[in-house]
Amino acid sequence: ADVVEFRGEHQAGIATPAQDRMHFVAFDVISDSRDDLIALLRTWTEVAERMTKGEQTYDNGATGGEEYSPPSDTGEALDLAPSQLTLTIGFGPSLFGTAEKDRFGIFSKKPAALADLQHFPGDILDPARSGGDIAIQACANDPQVAVHAIRNLARLGTGTVAVKWSQLGFGRTSSTSASQVTARNLMGFKDGTNNLKSEDTSEVSQFVWVDPKDDQDWMAGGTYLVARRIRMLIEAWDRTTLNEQERVFGRAKGSGAPKGSGAEFDAVDLQSKGPEGLLIDKAAHIRLASHESLNGIKLMRRGYNFTDGSDGFGHLDAGLFFIAFCRNPIEQFVPMQLQLSRKDLLNEYIQHMASAVFAVPPGVGQGEYWGSTLF
Ligand code: HEM
Repeated sequence: ADVVEFRGEHQAGIATPAQDRMHFVAFDVISDSRDDLIALLRTWTEVAERMTKGEQTYDNGATGGEEYSPPSDTGEALDLAPSQLTLTIGFGPSLFGTAEKDRFGIFSKKPAALADLQHFPGDILDPARSGGDIAIQACANDPQVAVHAIRNLARLGTGTVAVKWSQLGFGRTSSTSASQVTARNLMGFKDGTNNLKSEDTSEVSQFVWVDPKDDQDWMAGGTYLVARRIRMLIEAWDRTTLNEQERVFGRAKGSGAPKGSGAEFDAVDLQSKGPEGLLIDKAAHIRLASHESLNGIKLMRRGYNFTDGSDGFGHLDAGLFFIAFCRNPIEQFVPMQLQLSRKDLLNEYIQHMASAVFAVPPGVGQGEYWGSTLF
């Protein structure tokens, strides 16, 4: 149970139960050679599969190699369990180049759904922490296992890729399986209650996995990953009354139940009124993000809390590293975020600081490598 199968129809780390920790990295490809890129993807696949089983990068590993060479594995995961490590790869819009500069010969395979996200009201994005040619998401129940995996994959990429940015996360802010209890985000609210759950396979097929008929054949069984580094204005939030905090989300802080209801998983009643008006405010987060308010749109959230110390002004640099998987970001994430960015009560307490989108290829079968359907 401690090993999550690496190979399969879909990549692991999407609909598999969310682990507790994350290390997410975005790379730029610094080589112009298609062969270099493919060689790296093959190497990464082999090593990634080994690490998800709890093995070292290579057999000679941290201690078994040549005494006068750097060890092939950095060693900090020796003695640690596999910890349900999953490694998930995605390709950013920039990897596909342009018609004029098509360095890897894949421009014609760029899916229409893969485009840098538009600017949303309130965005203050840091370009140094946004985008990237290739992303790898490592999730595990032990932070050291996730960090070890990304560190060793980055090392193997030397000369072909350079790290653009990376993010550590903890305390999953979404449950992706009905078998998991709902964890809390750093605002103290249960997060993931009304998420798509992997057990609901028909909804997951409808909203997460790319269908062969959608666009590009090579993406069939894949999905898209949207990442947003959302800072929480923690100090302002912490001075807000409980009543206001619950109005912002439309749920009770303790139980997670929708306002006016008793238990966490009770159906959300968007119509009924109480003595103070609508039970769920017209600009409450769960109203605006609900499929009822968005012509039926849903997506699968799989984000993490982050705290990157303090910002130099004495404020905590903390928030939600939002990750969502969807079949088409332009048709799902964009309308949802557009509505939230315009009207959500939560906007007073958050700031979107970075943004990225990646095409996540299907899972690897025997003999295949990460992205082999693309090349
Ligand atoms: C629901 C927190 C940003 C989409 C929720 C809930 C919380 C929450 C506490 C209620 C529990 C649940 O059903 O999961 C946050 C925080 C955010 C944030 C703290 C930012 C820091 C976003 C963004 C999106 C989003 C950027 C998508 C663009 C959703 C959806 C739901 C939801 C779809 C379920 C709504 C329903 O009941 O149908 N969020 N959220 N959230 N959130 Fe967020």
